[in-house]
Amino acid sequence: MGSRLVGYGSYLPEKIMTNQDFEKIMDTSDEWIVQRTGMRERHFARDDETVVDMGVIAAQRALERANLTIDDIDMVVVATTTSELDFPSVGVQILGKLGATRDQPGFDVRGACTGYIYALHCARAFFTAGMYRRIMVIGAEKMSRFINWDDRSTAVLFGDGAGALIFEHSTSSYSGIIDTVVMGDGKSFDMLHGTPDHKISMNGPETYKKAVTLMPEAASYIMEHAGITADNVDWIIPHQANLRIINSGAERLGFPLEKILVTVDKHANTSGASGVLALAYGMDNGLIKQGQLILYPAFGSGLTWGAALIRV
Ligand code: ACO
Repeated sequence: MGSRLVGYGSYLPEKIMTNQDFEKIMDTSDEWIVQRTGMRERHFARDDETVVDMGVIAAQRALERANLTIDDIDMVVVATTTSELDFPSVGVQILGKLGATRDQPGFDVRGACTGYIYALHCARAFFTAGMYRRIMVIGAEKMSRFINWDDRSTAVLFGDGAGALIFEHSTSSYSGIIDTVVMGDGKSFDMLHGTPDHKISMNGPETYKKAVTLMPEAASYIMEHAGITADNVDWIIPHQANLRIINSGAERLGFPLEKILVTVDKHANTSGASGVLALAYGMDNGLIKQGQLILYPAFGSGLTWGAALIRV
């Protein structure tokens, strides 16, 4: 049992926070941020706008595009670590807000920036088991809620947003979620984590070093597993953490820069929403075309890392 992509949607909050806006409130510069990260702006949700609100809009847009209603979806899995409520899950709240009447399952996976790969991994497993016909994978984050405004090295890095993908079962194993791999190393917890008072704590240089090896490692593993090479891949969408990490990974893998989809300049790091938002951006702007093969490597707090191979 395989799957195919039948709908996608995304949502970015209206408020744009530019590097110049950061210059006004902390000791930083547009030049430093662009040179170290490639980021120019990011979206910040309103105070009253929640992770669930953003996920609902992205989900609605995906349903409209697929010409489906929420009752056509058998399961919702959400990648998020920034939900305002500890329980219930964002997944089940989104089902409720969209008026689901079938009592279908909704739940969250907490894989930080690798969250959307963990969510795709779950979806693939359920399709492989033949359990569900349609699964919605959502990435939704309000990273701005976790910003430590006293730490300029992390405050500038994150943004908010949500993306949703709807997959339907298919007899082809060459479409939809073709393959996934996920890993975790809890021993590296100290490198990057949220604190009990909801702040981001990160050793940037150490995280950087891990990222530039783990993302290409996961990408190589999945290409080898699928029996393909960089030539077969149309687009690589790495987790949008930092342009230098993205470019260095691409170089290690031998991918030309024109095959790399970059949104970090516009969205910054939206953690569990990053890859889903980037895929939606690529399709909305006519960059990614139907039938193309996408390689999706990611890494994040945990440490967690992994990759997915998707045909859109
Ligand atoms: N503006 C100006 N200067 C700054 C800023 C800022 N915003 N932040 C730090 N600096 C200064 C530092 O104080 C330091 O100054 P010093 O030399 O006088 O002490 C200097 O810049 C260099 O600081 P470093 O931390 O060594 O800078 P680095 O080149 O490593 O860049 C960065 C920092 C961008 C954070 C980089 O380490 C990085 O991208 N790391 C990986 C981050 C990442 O990918 N995180 C993933 C998160 S995923 C998740 O799961 C949430």
